[in-house]
Amino acid sequence: MKDIVWGQVLSVDVDEIDDDHRKLINLFNLLNHAVTDGESPAYLAAILEELVNCTVWHFSHEERLMLKYSYGDMEDHRSEHRELIKSARALQQKIQAADNAIADDDIEYLERWLTAHILTDDRRLGDYLSQVM
Ligand SMILES: [Fe+2]
Ligand SMILES: [Fe+2]
Repeated sequence: MKDIVWGQVLSVDVDEIDDDHRKLINLFNLLNHAVTDGESPAYLAAILEELVNCTVWHFSHEERLMLKYSYGDMEDHRSEHRELIKSARALQQKIQAADNAIADDDIEYLERWLTAHILTDDRRLGDYLSQVM
């Protein structure tokens, strides 16, 4: 699988959110390389856990900004975050049940999981925040 390359298309024009997204993308790329390099199952599971935990933290960060700046779509955006965490935890369980073997499909799923939300909901949030912050 190819790395996710950070670029303007992924920017939401709010530096503190872009910084978080870059960190998440770096972790995704680290996982992708670790799979290609045949790293141990325990190491792969550890990166995945770090990625999910960082995502939980990042969502709290966005939700704090939504509250502070009275974002109108906060409830929808928050419920989207909840769904994303649920699906990441489900993927983690599936991978654990497979002795921590990570398939190409899992990596592709994670790529979409990470980028689709940034390109839609986060872009809308960024458009709003960049006007009011
Ligand atoms: Fe985000
Ligand atoms: Fe978000």
